[in-house]
Amino acid sequence: MAPISLCDTSSRSGSSSSSSSSSSSNISTPSSSQDLLTLIEQIKQAVLQEKSPDRTAKSHFQLLGLVDELKLAVETPTETLLRLIYQPPQNAALRTVMDLGLFPLLMEHSPTGLSATALAEQTGAERALIVRLMRVMASLGLCTSTEPETYRANDKTAALIQPIGRDGIPCIYDLTLPTLSKLPDYFRAHNYTTPKEYAAAPMKWAVGESQFEWLAQHKPRQQLFNSYMASRRHGKPNWFDIYPVERLSEGLRRNDPDAVFLVDVGGNQGHDLVKFQERYASAKIPGRRVLQDLPKVVKREPGMGIEAMGYSFLEPQVVKGARAYYFRAIFHDWPDSTCQQILANTVAAMDPTYSRLLIVDMVLPDTAAPLLAASLDIQMMSIGAGVERSERQWRALLAAAGLEIRGIWNTNPGMESVIEAAVVCESSPQDQ
Ligand SMILES: C[S@@+](CC[C@H](N)C(=O)[O-])C[C@H]1O[C@@H](n2cnc3c(N)ncnc32)[C@H](O)[C@@H]1O
Repeated sequence: MAPISLCDTSSRSGSSSSSSSSSSSNISTPSSSQDLLTLIEQIKQAVLQEKSPDRTAKSHFQLLGLVDELKLAVETPTETLLRLIYQPPQNAALRTVMDLGLFPLLMEHSPTGLSATALAEQTGAERALIVRLMRVMASLGLCTSTEPETYRANDKTAALIQPIGRDGIPCIYDLTLPTLSKLPDYFRAHNYTTPKEYAAAPMKWAVGESQFEWLAQHKPRQQLFNSYMASRRHGKPNWFDIYPVERLSEGLRRNDPDAVFLVDVGGNQGHDLVKFQERYASAKIPGRRVLQDLPKVVKREPGMGIEAMGYSFLEPQVVKGARAYYFRAIFHDWPDSTCQQILANTVAAMDPTYSRLLIVDMVLPDTAAPLLAASLDIQMMSIGAGVERSERQWRALLAAAGLEIRGIWNTNPGMESVIEAAVVCESSPQDQ
């Protein structure tokens, strides 16, 4: 699979000038009927592809982008603003419904559903509160309500009882909301400058601790976080579906029994390494697999022959000369200054002609950034002075650490990319 440059952002809308003008013209003049019909025709074509064997992650992403464009084109500016203004009560209602455990009850009573009275009896919550909360849930499409005050599970409800919903919603709400609610105050007090140090992140200012200290202090939330980390990419491609692993297995030093093939640095409880082992069991790629994370996080062996090691990437890397040092969703947690520290610790352990650095993170396009990535950037900045970076920012960050990018792979513009980097050597081949 050839690496791609992510500077080309035209793929998202795949749209003609008429549809992009329909978005911008939304500010001053309503979209013309012709604009709307053109957009609907594009959506029709994208739906046909979505339902055909030609469907790809990229075509799915494009369809979602077109549907968003259509919604914006149809909404009046007032409707758009009201939709945004009233997002916070929706999140608070959802968080409360998760506490009450209403979605598991709907799943248990699927497909008939449950009345507000039954939900109140089973949870102890006031019936009137159930009605008011579930009205929002049904409007969000998270359950179905076709008879008054009766609710049925649908396919979104099913996801809400899986770890991604069950653990992700309370974890991210509790971790981020107190800080996000004070973010405007933080910026007012800090002359509208971005935080440059982890220890001075808005979360530290707003609640007294940044992300990882807060999680360590709130054990139940740490458990939810670990579960959410393992589950949040369910159904999405793994890094090894995107990146050609033969780039690592070819040229492997096979004679040293102590040689390390792959180190998952900050790998949480090892979910990525386990998936790798499952996929590559038959390929018998030699070399040790090492999981590293904070000692409190890697308390148990993940199995499948993976070695677990308590280690802080803010300290010198103890595993020397591995074939690959893999960091997924790590660098986006940290400001450039900390990333340089992590990179320096890693580069010092790398064999300059053999080791590779693999980074799995968002690579933001210069325009038309996906909303999820742009939103995550604000979240990461808030809880740890972290950054979602553009290709230019990645190149600058890695170059400052003496590394060069050998390739960037991506199959879904809305998701993370895989960046391969190597130590810059006078004679290093430009094998991109
Ligand atoms: C956003 S999670 C990513 C986990 C995993 N790589 C993934 O993508 O699912 C960040 C991870 O970094 C770990 N971490 C935070 N500070 C660390 C440190 N100083 N040294 C090692 N790991 C650390 C956290 O415990 C957490 O597991």
